[in-house]
Amino acid sequence: MSAHMKHILLVVAVVLGTSTAALHAQAPAAGAKVEINQTCPISGAPVDPAITGVYEGKTYAFSTEPNRKKWMADRESSLYHKLGGKPAIDAAVERFYVKVLADNRIKHFFEDINMGAQRRKQKAFLSAAFGGPEPWKGKDLRTAHKNLDGLNETHFNAVAENLQQTLEELKVPQELVKQAMAIAASTKDAVLNRPKK
Ligand code: HEM
Repeated sequence: MSAHMKHILLVVAVVLGTSTAALHAQAPAAGAKVEINQTCPISGAPVDPAITGVYEGKTYAFSTEPNRKKWMADRESSLYHKLGGKPAIDAAVERFYVKVLADNRIKHFFEDINMGAQRRKQKAFLSAAFGGPEPWKGKDLRTAHKNLDGLNETHFNAVAENLQQTLEELKVPQELVKQAMAIAASTKDAVLNRPKK
């Protein structure tokens, strides 16, 4: 082999070697970025990283195959899913707060509130309440509303009315509107800080 050929081969080897090393170096870093849940959302037990399912583009891990199946089936039969998942809930909450902030019965409650954060929290809360994939990690509703001076049932009903109108304007089928409103109604005692039944 000529010295020239040897040189070319060496260059090829170095280039290949380098790129392979680069790929190997990237793999764990890319893998490390994907945060997979450590506890099973069904059982609370440690997950088996080989048992996974994907929902709305995110990977979730489970402790057993039956738990994976149950969780995936629960997602697909949820009100959240039937309403159209994340984009639908996000759009509904945006529209809902336009109404709330224009409603003279209740808008004063939101005067000093950071509405960007409020919209984000409400999207997360309703998503969880409607059976979305992520649990609600914010305050419980009793704590969240306990400092709202004079909050009463009329205010609660006004909020519920705005939610219902939002869903109806978005052409959500009546049966699903009913289910959503039943879930909203189930929060009433907590929001109004009434004694637990
Ligand atoms: C269906 C009923 C309701 C639901 C599901 C709901 C949900 C929520 C959620 C998830 C938060 C954020 C909690 C957190 O910070 O982690 C919140 C805060 C708040 N809610 Fe409600 N809410 C309801 C009814 C009402 C009503 C009737 C009013 C007043 C008219 C109201 C006014 C507020 C205000 C002002 C805050 C912000 C409190 C603060 O940041 O200090 N909510 N609500």
